[in-house]
Amino acid sequence: MRHVLLLGGTTEASMLARLLAAHSIATTFSYAGRTENPRPQPVPVRVGGFGGVAGLADYLRAHRVTHLVDATHPFAATMSSHAIEAARLAGVAHIALTRPAWKPVAGDRWTRVADIDSAVAALAGPARRVMLALGRMHVEAFAAQPQHHYLLRFVDASEQPPSLPHHSLIVDRGPFTAAGDSQLMQIHAIDLVVCKNAGGNGADAKLIAARNLGLSILMIDRPAIPDRAEIFHPEDVLAWLGHDARHGAERGV
Ligand SMILES: NC(=O)c1ccc[n+]([C@@H]2O[C@H](COP(=O)([O-])OP(=O)(O)OC[C@H]3O[C@@H](n4cnc5c(N)ncnc54)[C@H](OP(=O)(O)O)[C@@H]3O)[C@@H](O)[C@H]2O)c1
Repeated sequence: MRHVLLLGGTTEASMLARLLAAHSIATTFSYAGRTENPRPQPVPVRVGGFGGVAGLADYLRAHRVTHLVDATHPFAATMSSHAIEAARLAGVAHIALTRPAWKPVAGDRWTRVADIDSAVAALAGPARRVMLALGRMHVEAFAAQPQHHYLLRFVDASEQPPSLPHHSLIVDRGPFTAAGDSQLMQIHAIDLVVCKNAGGNGADAKLIAARNLGLSILMIDRPAIPDRAEIFHPEDVLAWLGHDARHGAERGV
C-alpha cells in the first residue's frame, strides 16, 4: 500500500497535495508549524518537527511511508538534508519537488551575497529605505543595521513587533503581482530590496517590480543541500510514484 509523506510549506507542496488527493493517493502532509494559520490541505495534516534524522526515520517506519516527497522551500536546508538521510535509513523512496534558482536578466541590478549575515553586513552605510522580502524568522538579524527604514511583509500578524527601530509592516500572504509590488515599492519609496533566491514564479513579482523601477536587489544565494534527485513540476511526482494519471491507477512498477 502506497503512502506518501509530503514535506510542505510551499505553494508547490499545496499544488501537489491537491493532485495527490484528486488521484486518491494516500498522503500525509507535514508542516513545520511556523505559521499560525497554515493553508488547509485536502489530505491529512501533521504539524511540527520530527526530532531530527532519527525521529523522521522512525516516523517513516512507524507510519509505513513508502515515498517521501520533500517539497519544502529551497532555503529549508536542514529539513531537506534530514529527509535525504532519513529516507536512506528507512529504505524509503525520496524525491525533492523544488524550483530552479532565479538568474538575473537584462535590467536586473543584483548584488549576490552568500547568506543572511552577509546581507546584513552589506547594509552597512547611510540610511536607506529597504524592502526586506524575507520571512519573519530572519528579520531580527537586521537590527544590527538599525539606521535603515525597513518595509516588512509577513503572512500573518506578528504577536511581538520586530525590534527594528524604523519599520512598516504589511500582513499579506499573496499571491503578489508585479504591478502591486511596484506600487508598494513606490508608495514606500523603496531604494533597495533584500530577498532570497527562492526561484519559481510565485514569488518573482518583486524581482519584476524592482527591475521595472531600476531598483537594486541584494540577492541571498541558496544554502547547499547534499546531492539528491529533484523534479520541478508537481505532475511529475505522479509519474515518479508510478501512477498513470490518465487511468488513475498504479502502474505495475
Ligand atoms: N526557509 C525559508 O525561507 C522558507 C520560506 C517559505 C516557507 N518555508 C517553509 O517553512 C518551513 C520551515 O522552514 P525552515 O527554513 O525553518 O526549515 P529548516 O531550517 O530546514 O528546518 C528546521 C527544522 O524544522 C522542522 N521542519 C522543517 N520543515 C518541516 C516540515 N515541512 N515538516 C515538519 N518539520 C519541519 C525540522 O525539525 P526536526 O529536525 O525536529 O524534524 C527541521 O529540522 C518549511 O516547511 C519550509 O518549506 C521556509
